[in-house]
Amino acid sequence: MKRLRLLCALIGFTSLPAAADMASLSKEAFVSNLISQMTLEEKIGQLRLITIDEKMTPEKIREEIAAGRIGGTYGSVSRFVNRPMQDASQQSRLKIPMFFGWDVIHGHRTIFPIGLALASSWDIGAIELSGRIAAKEASADGIDLTFAPMIDIARDPRWGRTSEGFGEDTYLVSRIAKAMVQAYQGTSPNAPDSIMASAKHFALYGAVEGGRDYNSVDMGLARMHQDYLPPYRSAIEGGAGAMMVALNSINGVPATSNAWLMQDLLRKAWGFKGLVISDHNGINDLVQHGVAKNHREAARLAIKAGVDMSMNDFSYGPELQGLLESGAISQSNIDNAVREVLGAKYDMGLFEDPYRRIGIASEDPADNNAEHRLHRAQAREVARKTLVLLKNENGLLPLKKEGVIALIGPLAKSTVDIMGSWSASGVAEQSVTIYDGLKNAMTQGSLIYARGANLEEDQEVVKYLEYQGVSKIENDPRSAAEMIDEAVKAAQQADVVIAVVGEPRSMSHEAASRTSLDLPGRQSELITALKATGKPLVLVLMNGRPLSIGKEHKQADAILETWYSGSEGGNAVADVLFGDYNPSGKLPITFPRSVGQIPNYYSHLNTGRPYIAGALRNYTSQYFDQSHGPLYPFGYGLSYTNFSLTDMALSSTTLSKTDNLVASVLVKNTGQRDGETVVQLYIRDVVGSVSRPVKELKNFQKIMLKAGEEKAVHFSINENDLKFFNTQLEYAAEPGEFRVQIGLDSQDVKEQSFELLSEQGSG
Ligand code: NOJ
Repeated sequence: MKRLRLLCALIGFTSLPAAADMASLSKEAFVSNLISQMTLEEKIGQLRLITIDEKMTPEKIREEIAAGRIGGTYGSVSRFVNRPMQDASQQSRLKIPMFFGWDVIHGHRTIFPIGLALASSWDIGAIELSGRIAAKEASADGIDLTFAPMIDIARDPRWGRTSEGFGEDTYLVSRIAKAMVQAYQGTSPNAPDSIMASAKHFALYGAVEGGRDYNSVDMGLARMHQDYLPPYRSAIEGGAGAMMVALNSINGVPATSNAWLMQDLLRKAWGFKGLVISDHNGINDLVQHGVAKNHREAARLAIKAGVDMSMNDFSYGPELQGLLESGAISQSNIDNAVREVLGAKYDMGLFEDPYRRIGIASEDPADNNAEHRLHRAQAREVARKTLVLLKNENGLLPLKKEGVIALIGPLAKSTVDIMGSWSASGVAEQSVTIYDGLKNAMTQGSLIYARGANLEEDQEVVKYLEYQGVSKIENDPRSAAEMIDEAVKAAQQADVVIAVVGEPRSMSHEAASRTSLDLPGRQSELITALKATGKPLVLVLMNGRPLSIGKEHKQADAILETWYSGSEGGNAVADVLFGDYNPSGKLPITFPRSVGQIPNYYSHLNTGRPYIAGALRNYTSQYFDQSHGPLYPFGYGLSYTNFSLTDMALSSTTLSKTDNLVASVLVKNTGQRDGETVVQLYIRDVVGSVSRPVKELKNFQKIMLKAGEEKAVHFSINENDLKFFNTQLEYAAEPGEFRVQIGLDSQDVKEQSFELLSEQGSG
């Protein structure tokens, strides 16, 4: 402390030191020094993250910033808008820079496929590329931080935000969480072309009861640690500078007021050193949660629990001073939070140069959405990898680029839906629709289009979804019968029918939970009518969650899941439909047969009475009124070529705690085309002190094989792969039998067993 005072006296600053002086101070010394000069009002100001909207005029916001009453904004996305705000911060007494945050979830100006689609690529390099480009584009627009990645495990597709995350599996989501954080932050969050990652939503938001958004979460600690928490931890290991707090409660305590979550777990057990940001209005929501009487109490609970910064602040600003004066909170509660905000700004390089990402006015782009600012080639490359071929009867796909194609469906020409929800600063006019993509690719032949159906018939639903402000749902005023009739006529003239069906993007969004997973509107009827024409039928799905499409699965000859594939989606889809790219995507989430099967995830427990295929056995765990198991399992996806797997070889049938063993298979491309596939490694712990899942993904490799080529794939397994949280929350592997499974999806696998030896050398 004495040294620090001496240092400050030597430097003698009353506002920020010059960049040259900064270099001589450690981050901690710099931040402490600054805090020691701040008034209470300035400190509270730093804890406020303000939404830029119509209520906050530019003049008003600049005034507030210059007075030191705002720490950062959310929602301003260009250099010329952010520059005057940063100027205002530089006129404030201590010249503490602002940071500018934005939801850059799957691209910024160039829109990449949604999270669920990115996960379908199982291609960490491609996923990283999407994140890196998003960071480059966002930072070039003066953005310093993104509220991403969204890494909530989602096992209930009724939840509209399933689209934003990376699916149901702990291992896959954890791998992607780390990769995304590192992609956003690049070499360092301080680099001019990096943005800081604020991973979200901490914690367990994907497990809201019934898939109803914002609902409660009730979960045992072992399951939390085993299945739901690892992705957040992985984001921290990846260096995430910030974490956003979830809106749900956890076992009765809202995440926003949950000291166990933010202090015991996040800070103490995991050693997180970054910034904790509330979700939008999350602090005031504590009143509705019923844990705070009023906003003052809400602010007290949040700051004491460990929320550093208040997003869309209407609580810290008005309440913290009063709370401090009344003794309800301490000075250190405030100072600790301020320390994290300033620390994050330091890490973003903003003290060195507040204009690091805003640049100089003369270099501002004349048009933020200018074509040359986009990364179309990369978006197309990534999007192709995210498409999942679910069915391809008699090799209907790929199609020839000739003849007559009838393109039917309300999503085929949608520029807005193909971007998916949370499409950052993308503009719909720059999306390549599926219609455009096919047209671009077809050198001969013709494309006839008919809308076929509206996406939603119920105007109350349309009103609700549009109220969310995501986008308008286009409505064709013709009757359903008229539209279907037109589509059937188009189909009758064609050699093949492509029906682009699914959900408008506003259905796969925040506050967009569904009770049904059916195709909305009259799309199902449309498909039945198209099927009746007898023409070969390709379904192209555009949706942000698994849908229950058992009937459509039977009707269609081929099905391609395209999710929301982004700015270059149409071209990428055409690449696959015409065979310029051989599909290689695999599902990161189970497709249930019906909504009644939910939750339906592959890594379930065996139960005491597991279902037995083919046996007419009563008293086993199943629904008697529907076929057992999913429509499409986790990890599933076809290719235009075929792959075979030899039986698995294990390097040993025993494993000691300090050793490793290798599981190997030979994968052969037995078809006529080159292609990629994902070789997946699953492990089952047969007997444990608690019931263990029937299988858990532990590793995977995406490999390319030329037609006829064969490759050996090896997976190394050690004790760490076998660990789990027992009832005492100890993370340990238990000796005994383990089954290793390798397959190209989670169900069709080769299996071998080995024994994990105890210390003494026997099971
Ligand atoms: C609320 C959402 O839950 C969160 O994910 C998002 O970052 C904020 N709104 C800001 O858009």
